[in-house]
Amino acid sequence: MIVAVFNTKAYDRRFLQDANRDQRHQLLFHEPRLNRNTAALASGADAVCVFVNDVLDRATLEALARIGISAVALRCAGFNNVDLAAAEDLGLQVVRVPAYSPYAVAEHTVALILTLNRKTHRAHNRVHEGNFSLEGLLGFDLHGKVVGVIGTGKIGAIFSRIMTGFGCRVLAFDPLVNPDCLAIGVDYVAMEQLLSEADIVSLHCPLTPASRHLIDDRAIASMRQGCMLINTSRGGLIDAPALIRGLKSGKVGYVGLDVYEEEADLFFEDLSNTVIQDDVFARLTTFTNVLITGHQGFFTDSALENIATTTLANLTDLEIRGCCDNAVTTDLVRNR
Ligand code: NAI
Repeated sequence: MIVAVFNTKAYDRRFLQDANRDQRHQLLFHEPRLNRNTAALASGADAVCVFVNDVLDRATLEALARIGISAVALRCAGFNNVDLAAAEDLGLQVVRVPAYSPYAVAEHTVALILTLNRKTHRAHNRVHEGNFSLEGLLGFDLHGKVVGVIGTGKIGAIFSRIMTGFGCRVLAFDPLVNPDCLAIGVDYVAMEQLLSEADIVSLHCPLTPASRHLIDDRAIASMRQGCMLINTSRGGLIDAPALIRGLKSGKVGYVGLDVYEEEADLFFEDLSNTVIQDDVFARLTTFTNVLITGHQGFFTDSALENIATTTLANLTDLEIRGCCDNAVTTDLVRNR
């Protein structure tokens, strides 16, 4: 297939070109993100390949269909940026990479927890300046703490296993019970109980209309005083202004974010010479008990290899079989 690959960085090109040695698609790399204004760059291609922050709304999909694109290959697991109903109306097939390294995201979640707790980022800066004071660096033992996991799919289950290894008690909320989690002693409870008992709450569910702003003023009010909140899933799960209110009042004691609702205007680019216009994001960066990374949970060599291999295999499936086991449909969303 001729594939217009949008939103590419040097690392995307490297891993996709390596994986394509076995697949032989024609890859045309484009730096811009895909949206209704850039869709024309895909002229002459059969498929587009996109990432989390490309915008595949109805207008973009209509523009793609008009120039003969028949498939959208997401090089990520989440698909909240695609209007699936529009894709189906237009006969565009959508495929994704359902799992590339759940370990990468689960381990990054643990990195955020350990850094926030033991303040190693602050300690590192202090030591570099010859400041060996321990004031302000007090942490807590993870052993014996209660961790609340919202969403126990692939990533949530691995994260739960790691936290039981630290000697934590794990409470979970998920409409689907994962037998692997039950087997390691995870207790499934109602959301209210999880929020009121957990010392650390970590989000591992997808962003859907039902889960948008799952963490809002009400949820924050029911959390333990000073609890830690971690989000490595999708930014829209948290109402950021409500989170700021929770931080200012001290109700929320620590926040670790790898995702942010309005991240499309910020993440994956070097903006160090510009003024950040997003006042909510800017306020979040002023708290010393907030640690933000720019959507790098997935960013390991194993994950990039798996993403590239599966993305190209998905396109080969569509080309040869006309269908793909990793297709994303509106039925998949309804059944979540
Ligand atoms: P998964 O599909 O294996 O598991 C998601 C789980 O969430 C399922 O068990 C589902 O039943 C549950 N769920 C759905 N709605 C829920 C709700 N309202 N409340 C509680 N649970 C709910 O997904 P996986 O692979 O574990 O990924 C989880 C999320 O992690 C993805 O949706 C994606 O948004 C995010 N992600 C983030 C990455 C990063 O780089 N930071 C990379 C990859 C994924």
